[in-house]
Amino acid sequence: MKIPLCPASVVANGCSLKVEREGLTLCVFNLDGRFYVTDDACTHGPGSLSEGAILDDIVECDFHGGAFNIRTGAVEAPPCMQPLRTYAVELVDGTVCVDPARTPGGG
Ligand code: FES
Repeated sequence: MKIPLCPASVVANGCSLKVEREGLTLCVFNLDGRFYVTDDACTHGPGSLSEGAILDDIVECDFHGGAFNIRTGAVEAPPCMQPLRTYAVELVDGTVCVDPARTPGGG
């Protein structure tokens, strides 16, 4: 099931947006015009990644400074240990959508 999150135009390049839909709290990132979606909650604690700092394809949690790769969800800096969930993104008529049943690059 595809879930529409937001118009692509509301997330500027190098920025992110927290979106709550269908019981999910997600973070939409725009990296050079390509859109990526992850869980918004930091896997380390109460941090919200939409409030974190974005540097290239890394987001740094503003709680304890842990960091993740936005494209892959991989941990880039401690104290985070657990990767971040990422979602397969589709742009439909200018709207950023995700399908929670699919993983990026998966089926
Ligand atoms: S809550 Fe994000 S690094 Fe601790």
